[in-house]
Amino acid sequence: MIEVTNREATPSPSLAELGKASGLEVGCAFSGCVDTRYRCLIAHHCRLVVPEWQLKPRFLRPRRNSAYNFEPCDAIAGFAASNGMAFHGHTLFWHEDPIPWAQGKSFERVKRDYGGFISDVMNHYPQAASWDVFNEIVGEAEPLRDEFLIRNFGLQFVDYCLHLARENAPSARLVINDYNLECGTDWSLAKQDHMLRLLDGLRAMGSPLDSIGIQGHLSSVHKASPKSTIRFIDRLADLGFDVFISELDVNDSTMPANIAVRDREVAAYYEEFLTAVLDRRSVKRIVFWGISDFDNWIVRRQTREKRRSGKARPALFDDQLQPKPAFDAVVRTLESAPPR
Ligand code: XIL
Repeated sequence: MIEVTNREATPSPSLAELGKASGLEVGCAFSGCVDTRYRCLIAHHCRLVVPEWQLKPRFLRPRRNSAYNFEPCDAIAGFAASNGMAFHGHTLFWHEDPIPWAQGKSFERVKRDYGGFISDVMNHYPQAASWDVFNEIVGEAEPLRDEFLIRNFGLQFVDYCLHLARENAPSARLVINDYNLECGTDWSLAKQDHMLRLLDGLRAMGSPLDSIGIQGHLSSVHKASPKSTIRFIDRLADLGFDVFISELDVNDSTMPANIAVRDREVAAYYEEFLTAVLDRRSVKRIVFWGISDFDNWIVRRQTREKRRSGKARPALFDDQLQPKPAFDAVVRTLESAPPR
């Protein structure tokens, strides 16, 4: 496909250019949607794309004898390359998209099967600037998630995969990514502590790891705590890790139904959170988990959640790809962000 992305057609200031001015990378999750107007919007505002689901383990290779289903992600990688955008690999491990055929009973089997999967996938995308090697392995009640490989092989498995990832892609940034690290509730603070304990352990093992992804799915139910988040970011920096706000959006599920009021509240939420976290120079990347309501996972799944307000409006642009107050709010935070 020849990419048609006419940046001049999108007049608003580019979020990516504003971010670049303070050394910040701005990106978004991308579903591969073929709408040209939407692709123009992404190419104008983002310098990095993340496959929304096409690079997850079970999607790529559900069974041992399956061929790799690379085509959908290849299309997203092709869009990135055609528009001079970086590409982030999300994710080589996620409990919600497991590959049971690689859950061997012995560590040798796991190194052969899961290690083989990691190498196959990373070597198919040598251009990836960074990789979520692990997604959501930290527990809230327990230090680590109760998942087969984590339960049976623990840090030995995590360390092995990180070393293998470094060997496959020496110049890519390696990331451990997780959610609910920004809420300020007791269980979120416990999760922060569990993440820090994991990182201490990996540091002690000499595991290669560069960045921590704080997903940033901001909830109207469990309000994010900017103060708790920047305290956590500072503790990560003390351990030598920089931070990606890796899946930023605002779920407006319990906000007022009135659209003008709700859009203002969503904008204020983005502005409060981003103003706080962008003050920290160790925050190097902001990825929106969809920049528009036009193509957005919260909008798609809203029928499965209790919503007091009407149709979800989580993103910076509406379902007609028009900028919302949230876009203006993010522009303000990027314009005032200190250099990093
Ligand atoms: C979500 C995608 O947006 C959906 O399209 C897919 O059906 C399920 O996964 N945290 C993550 C992401 O790390 O991988 C999830 O993405 C959203 C929550």
